[in-house]
Amino acid sequence: MYDERNLAEKAHEAMENSYCKYSGFSVGAALLCADGTIYSGCNVENASYGAANCAERTAIFKAVSEGHRKFTAIAICGGKDINNTIECPPCGICRQVMNEFCDSSFEIILPVFKEGSIAGVSKHTLADMLPYAFDL
Ligand code: THU
Repeated sequence: MYDERNLAEKAHEAMENSYCKYSGFSVGAALLCADGTIYSGCNVENASYGAANCAERTAIFKAVSEGHRKFTAIAICGGKDINNTIECPPCGICRQVMNEFCDSSFEIILPVFKEGSIAGVSKHTLADMLPYAFDL
C-alpha cells in the first residue's frame, strides 16, 4: 500500500515547474519507485515542437538515470489552469516507456483538482492502458 493522495499532490506540485510556452498546457507527474522513493517531473517543451518531453517521461528518466528500475505507480496531473486541472491520461509514447520498466499491474493515478484541491481520482493499470503491448 502507498499514499495515493500524497502522490497526487506531488504530481500537482510538479505542474508548477512545467515549461510549456507553446501549448500553455502544464503537466506534472510523480513516480513511486518500489523502494518508496518518489521522482517528480514536468513537461519541457521546445521551439522545435517534436523535441518536447512529457512529464511522465521526465520523471521516469530521472529515476532510471539514478539507478531505479522497479516502479509501483505514477500520478499524472495536467491542465491550462493549475488550480483547475483536467484528467490527463498518458500519451502513447509514455505508455510504451512505462512498459519498458513496469509490469502490467503498474498503477496510473489520474487526479483532478478543483480550486486547488483533489476533486476526484481515477485509477488504471498499465495493462488497461496499453493492451497488446510491443516488447522484445
Ligand atoms: N503532455 C505530457 O506531458 N504528458 C502527457 O501524457 C500528454 C501531453 C504534454 C506535452 C506537451 O508539452 C503538452 O502536454 C501538450 O501536449
